[in-house]
Amino acid sequence: MDPITALPRITASGCGSGQCNCASQQPRPLSDSMPLQEVDFGTPLRHADTDVTLEIDGVAVTVPAGTSVMRAALESGVNVPKLCATDSLEPFGSCRLCLVEIEGRRGYPASCTTPVEAGMKVRTQSDKLQSLRRNVMELYISDHPLDCLTCGANGNCELQDMAGVTGLREVRYGYSGENHLDASKDESNPYFTYDPSKCIVCNRCVRACEETQGTFALTISGRGFGSRVSAGEDQAFMDSECVSCGACVEACPTATLQEKSLIQLGQPTKAVVTTCAYCGVGCSFKAEVKGSQVVRMVPYKDGQANEGHACVKGRFAWGYATHPDRITKPMIRKSIDDPWQEVSWETAIAYAASEFRRIQDNYGRDSIGGITSSRCTNEETYLVQKLVRAAFGNNNVDTCARVCHSPTGYGLKQTIGESAGTQTFASVAKADVIVVIGANPTDGHPVFGSRMKRRIREGAKLIVVDPRRIDIVDGPHIKAAYHLQLRPGTNVALVNALAHVIVTEGLLDQAFIDARCDSRAFDQWRDFVALPENAPEATESVTGVPAELVRGAARLYAAADNGAIYYGLGVTEHAQGSTTVMGIANLAMATGNVGREGVGINPLRGQNNVQGSCDMGSFPHELPGYRHISDSITRALFEDAWQVTLQPEPGLRIPNMFDAAAHGSFKGLYVQGEDIVQSDPNTHHVAHALSSMECIVVQDIFLNETAKYAHVFLPGSSFLEKDGTFTNAERRISRVRRVMPPLAGYADWEVTVLLSNALGYPMQYSHPSQIMDEIARLTPTFAGVSFDRIDQLGSIQWPCNAQAPDGTPIMHVDSFVRGKGRFMITKFFASQEKVTPKYPLLLTTGRILSQYNVGAQTRRTENVRWHDEDRLEIHPVDAEDRGIREGDWVGIASRAGDTVLRARVTERMQPGVVYTTFHFPESGANVITTDSSDWATNCPEYKVTAVQVLPVQQPSDWQRAYSRFNQTQLELLRNRQAAADSLTGK
Ligand code: SF4
Ligand code: SF4
Ligand code: SF4
Ligand code: FES
Repeated sequence: MDPITALPRITASGCGSGQCNCASQQPRPLSDSMPLQEVDFGTPLRHADTDVTLEIDGVAVTVPAGTSVMRAALESGVNVPKLCATDSLEPFGSCRLCLVEIEGRRGYPASCTTPVEAGMKVRTQSDKLQSLRRNVMELYISDHPLDCLTCGANGNCELQDMAGVTGLREVRYGYSGENHLDASKDESNPYFTYDPSKCIVCNRCVRACEETQGTFALTISGRGFGSRVSAGEDQAFMDSECVSCGACVEACPTATLQEKSLIQLGQPTKAVVTTCAYCGVGCSFKAEVKGSQVVRMVPYKDGQANEGHACVKGRFAWGYATHPDRITKPMIRKSIDDPWQEVSWETAIAYAASEFRRIQDNYGRDSIGGITSSRCTNEETYLVQKLVRAAFGNNNVDTCARVCHSPTGYGLKQTIGESAGTQTFASVAKADVIVVIGANPTDGHPVFGSRMKRRIREGAKLIVVDPRRIDIVDGPHIKAAYHLQLRPGTNVALVNALAHVIVTEGLLDQAFIDARCDSRAFDQWRDFVALPENAPEATESVTGVPAELVRGAARLYAAADNGAIYYGLGVTEHAQGSTTVMGIANLAMATGNVGREGVGINPLRGQNNVQGSCDMGSFPHELPGYRHISDSITRALFEDAWQVTLQPEPGLRIPNMFDAAAHGSFKGLYVQGEDIVQSDPNTHHVAHALSSMECIVVQDIFLNETAKYAHVFLPGSSFLEKDGTFTNAERRISRVRRVMPPLAGYADWEVTVLLSNALGYPMQYSHPSQIMDEIARLTPTFAGVSFDRIDQLGSIQWPCNAQAPDGTPIMHVDSFVRGKGRFMITKFFASQEKVTPKYPLLLTTGRILSQYNVGAQTRRTENVRWHDEDRLEIHPVDAEDRGIREGDWVGIASRAGDTVLRARVTERMQPGVVYTTFHFPESGANVITTDSSDWATNCPEYKVTAVQVLPVQQPSDWQRAYSRFNQTQLELLRNRQAAADSLTGK
C-alpha cells in the first residue's frame, strides 16, 4: 500500500476536521465582525488540472500541482515560519526562515520556493531546523530597534511573531555592530511612514508594487549590508512614482511601512467587512475599528472584486466621514437667501412633506420628483424610486447614471438584451487582446487597472482608443500595441472602421454569428459596415487616426483567441453614446467574443453603485429590473405589492426636470446623495432651474453645491454608518456593513421611510435586509438574493435565481439574454459641437486617480496633496500659438459659458484638443459644457465641447459670481445656530 494514501488525508479544500483554519477555497460566511488577521498561506493559490499528494509531518495532503510546500503545509494545518513569503505575492526565497527537510534531498530547501511533488515526504520541525531558523532571526534582530513596546506594530508584527515561534531568547552578536538604527524616516506620504531602521529587506514591498499594483516605484538600492528599500531614485515617497495604493504597506511584515492612523490610534479591536463607496470596482475592505472609530481600512483578501488590493481612495481617503464639515442636524429655510434653521427631524420631515403636498395641490401631481443616488445603497435607491412612484404618485425619478452610463443601458439592451457588463473583473486574466475605449482604468478604476496591467505584462496585447495618451498607453513594462488617438466625437466612425476591416477582410466568426445572432440584422449590418464610407481610409480625415493603425488594431482584435473590450465614459458621454455602445457590441458579436472568460463587453461603471441604482428602477421609464413602466403585467405586480396605483407613462428625466422648472411647471425636488449643480452640464441652466423651484430637499453629508439652492437639508449618512448592498460594474452585489452609528441619528434609508410616512404613504421596514427581500420578491434577476445568501457566498453577481442560485459570473454563455444577438446599424453623425474660428479647440473631460467625481469626499482628505486644483491640459503647439506657458491662467470659453483654470502644457494631448478634470466646484468645468446630449438617453456630451483658450489675468465673471454666492451660502450656514436661537426666541 502507498504509505501516503494510508495516512489521514487532507485536501486543499479543507479536511473538515475543524482543527485548522485552512478551508481557503470555500467562501467564508461573514458575520458583522470577523477576525482581525486573516490566514496567510505564504504563496498564492495554484489552479491545475492535476492534484499532487505528499506527506507533511506524517500527514498526507493533496493539493493542486504547482503548489508550494509551504502552502501545502498550511493546508494540512502546519504553519511553517516565514517572513519574505505572503500569499498575495510570488515566492522570493530570501529570508531562509521557512527551511524544511525533504526526504532524499540534501540540505534544507526553502518551503516557499519548493513546489510539491507526488510522494514527497517533508519535515517542518526538527532541532536542526529550529536552530537554523533561530540563527536567521538572530541576524535580523541584531539590526532591529528593540522598541517593541512603543512600536505601532506591537501586537501585529510578523517579525515579533517569528521571534516567538523560533524561540529566540538572546542575540549573540550584540547590538553594537554596524547597523541601520539611525536611518531617518520618510514621512512625506500623508497616509503612511517609511522607517528604514525597521526594514528587514524582505522585498515584499517591492514585489507588491510590481506584481500587485504594477507601478514599479520601489527598488532595493545598495548592496549587501547597505541594501535598503528605495522609492524612485532614492526619493521621498511623495516625490516618486508612488500612487499611494498601500500595497507595499499591506505587504510589509514589520512596522517599516505603516499607516499613520494606526501609529496614532493604536491597534484595532475588531474588523467589519464592507465595500468601498468610491468607484464601480467595488473593493471589499476590512474596516478595522476601536469602538466606533476607524483605525484603518485594509483591503480584504477574500474580496472577490479586488482580492486584497486597493487604491489611494478606498484605502486611505475615508477621513471625510468624520470631517468637521459634516452636517448632522436637519435644517430648513423658506428662501435660499435666508439663514438655515436647525430643527428636529420631526419638524424637517413634516416641513418637507407639507411643502411637497402644497406644491402638488397648487401645480399638479407631476410638479415634483426625486433623484436617487449612485453613492447610496441598493436598498436606499429602491426606496427613493418607490417613494416617487407610490407617494408622489408620478414617475419623475432619475439618477446620475443619466449623465454617465445611461447609453450603456440602452445600447446593450438593444443588442444583447441586458443592460450590464458581461464578465467578472477576474476574467481579464484570460484575455489575449484587451481593447480599452474611452476609459482610463489606472485613474478611474485603479484596482481593475492593476489587474489589467498584470495581464498585459503576462503577454496580452493592448489596444487603446483615446484622444489622450493615458498612462496605460506606455507605462512600466507596458506598451500598447496600438493607440488610436482619435478626435473627440468620432467614436462611431472609428468603431465602424474597425468593423469594416473585420467584415471586408474575412475576419468574422461566422460560426458564432450563425449560431447566436439574428441573421437578418447581421446581413444588414454587414452590408452597412462594408460600405466604402466606413473604410479606415475614408474615416481617417474624420477621426484623425491613420488607416493602417485602424486596420492593424482590427486584425489584432479579430484574431485574438479571447478579445475583451472595456469602455468608459469616453464612449457614453457623447451625442452618439448609445450608438457607440451598440457598435462595441457589434464588434464583440462579429468576432465571437461573448459568453466565456477572457472576452466580453465591459462597461467600467463610474460610481460605486451606479449599476445598482439603475437595477433598482431609478430611471423614469423603468421599474426595478429594467422593466418598462408601460408594461401592465409588471405594473400590476408592483401595484399589488405596494398597494397603490402606478402611472403608466414614463416621468421626467433630469434634463426634462430642469427644463420644466425653468418653464415654471416643475417646483419641487427630493435629491438624495447627488450634486447635480456640480456634476450636470451647463451650470447656468441648472442653477436657473433650481432657483425657479419652491422646495428642494437635499439629503447629503455635506452642504454640497446643490444644497446651496435647497430649502430643506436632511443630514445623510456615510457608507460607514449603514447596512445595505452596493452593486459594482461586474453586477456583483456586496454587503455594506455598519461600522459606526449614523452621526445624525438615521441611515439614509430611514430618512426616506420617515418622509414617505409623513407624505401619507406608509413604509415599514426595520432593517435594510427586509428591503432587499422585497426587491428579490419583485425582481426576477434578484430572486435568489438576500443578505444571508450574500453573507454565505461573499458576494453575488446577478442574475441570481432558481436557474443560477450562486449568481452569474459570465452572462450570455449559450445564448444572449434577448435570444439572438442583434446587430444594429451605427451610422456616424458628426457632433454639433464643431470647431469654428471662434471656438477652434475641442475640450474633453475626465477624472484623476486621487480625486473622485465632484470631489466632495476626496477634497476633504489628504488626497488634495496630489491634486488641489483642476488644470487645463493643452498641447505645446496650441499653447505656443497662444503664448501660454505652464501654470499660466487661461480662459476657456464655449457657447455655454466661460471659466478660468491654470494651464498644464503636455504632450499627452493631441494638438487641437484640451482636457480638464471637474473635481473642484470653483473650476466651473460644467459652466463650459453644453446641453448637447445622447440622442437616445439624454446623456450629456461632456466629452466634446468646442472652446477657445486664451491667456487671462483674472477669474471669469461666473467664477466671481460663484465666489460671492458661495461665501453667502457658507455664511448662512455658519449662522444657522443663531437662526435657531432666534427661532427659539420667537
Ligand atoms: S503605495 Fe503602492 S505605488 Fe506606492 S510604493 Fe507602495 S505599492 Fe508602490
Ligand atoms: S519595507 Fe517592509 S516589506 Fe519592504 S523590504 Fe523592508 S521589511 Fe520588507
Ligand atoms: S478601486 Fe475603486 S472601489 Fe477599489 S479602493 Fe479604489 S476607489 Fe475604492
Ligand atoms: S519565507 Fe521562504 S525564504 Fe522567506
